[in-house]
Amino acid sequence: MLNQETMLQRLDLERIGQCINQRYGLEFCHRQLDLLGEAVEKRCKANGSCTLAQYQDLLQREEESLQLIQLLAVHETYFFREAAQFDVMRQHVMQRIAQEKERPLLRFLSAGCSTGEEAYSIAMALLDIAGVGAEWDFEVIGVDVDPAAIRKAQLGNYGPYSFRGCSMALRSRYFKPLGSDRFVINETIKEKVRFEVLNLFEPDYPEWLKKIDVVFYRNVSIYFSKLQRAQLFNRLSGLLASAGCLFVSCTETLYHDTQQMELVNSGDVFYYRKKDATKLSPAKEKEALRARPCRTRPKRPEESVKWISKPLLPERHEAVKRIERLHADPLATVLEMLKDKQYDEAIASLDRWISCEPLCTKAYTLKANVLLNRQCIEEAEELCHTVLVMDVFCLEAYLLLGMAAKIAGKCEEAIQRFKKAVYVSPECWLAHFFLAQLYQLRKEDAYARREYQVVMRILEQGGFAEHGLSFFLLAVQLDDLIRLCRHQIDGLRE
Ligand SMILES: C[S@@+](CC[C@H](N)C(=O)[O-])C[C@H]1O[C@@H](n2cnc3c(N)ncnc32)[C@H](O)[C@@H]1O
Repeated sequence: MLNQETMLQRLDLERIGQCINQRYGLEFCHRQLDLLGEAVEKRCKANGSCTLAQYQDLLQREEESLQLIQLLAVHETYFFREAAQFDVMRQHVMQRIAQEKERPLLRFLSAGCSTGEEAYSIAMALLDIAGVGAEWDFEVIGVDVDPAAIRKAQLGNYGPYSFRGCSMALRSRYFKPLGSDRFVINETIKEKVRFEVLNLFEPDYPEWLKKIDVVFYRNVSIYFSKLQRAQLFNRLSGLLASAGCLFVSCTETLYHDTQQMELVNSGDVFYYRKKDATKLSPAKEKEALRARPCRTRPKRPEESVKWISKPLLPERHEAVKRIERLHADPLATVLEMLKDKQYDEAIASLDRWISCEPLCTKAYTLKANVLLNRQCIEEAEELCHTVLVMDVFCLEAYLLLGMAAKIAGKCEEAIQRFKKAVYVSPECWLAHFFLAQLYQLRKEDAYARREYQVVMRILEQGGFAEHGLSFFLLAVQLDDLIRLCRHQIDGLRE
């Protein structure tokens, strides 16, 4: 039971959360309120140990609200994050823009650029396209609300962690080493990119933010409320020149829908493209400019545009209940969503869970599992590697990495990863089962036979549940699995 003083403090904290939410979009509910509480406590101390009520007054000053934002913002980023999107930009988007464009200068925006890796990646991806600098040119603008992140971006000095998504060759090509583990970006790239402090929720955008050809707005909206997400998406869409495109991260794709934009699917990558404005009637155009939060589900994998729009309001009540349950038991709630095939909601909940408990490996591996089911292989692998940094013996991470390599057709890599899973947990029958399948695929029948026999031995001893993915419900019976192994062994050569 909360005493009166604690309740009043909670109310003050909620007011501070609302103030930050209105100004910067960041949403704080339940556990995130605790994170806000820690940040506010630090700022209260820095301001002469003022009370929460006094701090609310201080927060009216922009300098103070920015200090608080620095403690709250998540800056996770690296070069060529979701590399496939950069390929699609180079190969498809650029072609279309070039066809429609008369202006010789193309403009790119990294909205929520953090410490600059995304903006510099755009420049690196564009620099070796034919004709650049001669027939056409480009500029990249990176904006972020956090002045400290922008200062780092302007310096362009990075540690090895920023390069975890790109090759050594690319690093040597565009960076100069500084000391043993720092790298500074070359001037050729630096002069193409400029950084500005900007709150994306500013009521008015500056002139230089108009007529953008491609917007990267990735891994930013997950921290906003649904309504603010929709509003901001529409504002950013409004900045696009004709034929302009907008990229969000793979996990954010299904959050957005708008009448101004169409969702395009190119290979594994989704992006949004500005609809041809000439096709809209004036009435429709007016309507399109209004924020309209909806959900979109892409239907077919080919280059297509499909819409299923639903108003947000009927979902709201259910969403609030979900968040409350998530607060009480995050794993059970997410599993329930997965059972109902509500994948995008599950991912959003997992993101919240991760932001509240950044060291909870279960949340990461579960998210990796969902991503894998949606064929977001690189993202899933990235999460597993993050988990292995936290816990080098995480069985689930090795299993999921093995499954990712298997899906990607990288047989040898998959075998190595499943062997690591077996090393961590010798009785993990799922790892043995995958190994058996892979050896069978490679026609290494003796190895395949041995692995199927191990699976049968473990299962016959009653090790059915010990497959290693605690969140992974198998829709198979023990007997069927044993029978399957026996059948496979019978088909193998002696
Ligand atoms: C996780 S980083 C994403 C970096 C990069 N876009 C990427 O995908 O790798 C999120 C960034 O969004 C910024 N951000 C959050 N709210 C913002 C706002 N209202 N205006 C501008 N930037 C914001 C944060 O400061 C943070 O640097």
